[in-house]
Amino acid sequence: MTGFGRGKLILCGEHAVVYGFPALALAVDRGTTVTLESRPGPTEAIDSPIDDPRLPEALRLVLPEGLGVRITTDLPIGRGMGSSGALAVALVRAAAARLGESLDADTLWQRALLVERVFHGNPSGLDHAVSAHGGLVRYRRPTGGLPPKLEPLPTPVWNLVVLDSGLAGDTKAMVAGVAARRPGIDAHLTAIGDLVVTAESLLHDARALGDLLLENHRLLQAIGVSTPALDDLVGIAVGAGAYGAKLAGAGGGGVVLALVDDPAPVLVAARARGIHAFSCRIA
Ligand code: MEV
Repeated sequence: MTGFGRGKLILCGEHAVVYGFPALALAVDRGTTVTLESRPGPTEAIDSPIDDPRLPEALRLVLPEGLGVRITTDLPIGRGMGSSGALAVALVRAAAARLGESLDADTLWQRALLVERVFHGNPSGLDHAVSAHGGLVRYRRPTGGLPPKLEPLPTPVWNLVVLDSGLAGDTKAMVAGVAARRPGIDAHLTAIGDLVVTAESLLHDARALGDLLLENHRLLQAIGVSTPALDDLVGIAVGAGAYGAKLAGAGGGGVVLALVDDPAPVLVAARARGIHAFSCRIA
């Protein structure tokens, strides 16, 4: 039995989304597949690119005993592209498929949240919601046990290039770091939330949206989650003609997304510096 979960990129609004502000995010044409095999003994990963000591606990939370778990992915792990959210969705879908159970969106979200909490501590729930839903969406963290508010948005015409810093970021630590810097950074979190509202009205104006992404990156710097390597990647993308670029995800490592008309010049500029870069489609 198999299950699949897509990866994601946050166009704007990460970290502020943890505190109830909206974020714009998209599912990407990459993801994680989980295959379950019956076998005697405890449930464990028998083939996995995810080398994380928290994986056994995550498996225990959503799978019964007596299963071997194979995981394959074409997402970079721990780079802000929702690898754990994609894993969470793939695990829950595979477990349901094994029982012949049909899953509604809220049940899938609630079960996958158990896995996300293992990896992320206090997740907004965005990653696995976008993974399960697909497309470009506006997301707002639910309150009081309500289902998440996820609004599908029209697919835009621009393209995206992802530039990988080659370093993993620890989402749990980055989210905890932002929490520890409050209330001193609250004005920046509010500014990110305001920027997201403006960005939604400019989705089809790539130039204006690109400027907002740069402003979002500056605000992410101000809340302490960017790194010199990520700032350099933003500079490389913009120097090669991107409309705008920003770190995507929790930061501290991970990827930069660049909004482009033509991916080629940004890909060439990145690769000339030995940076792993690829174009990404909304899926
Ligand atoms: C992680 O992909 C995005 C953060 O906003 C955390 C979260 O939403 O749970 C940093």
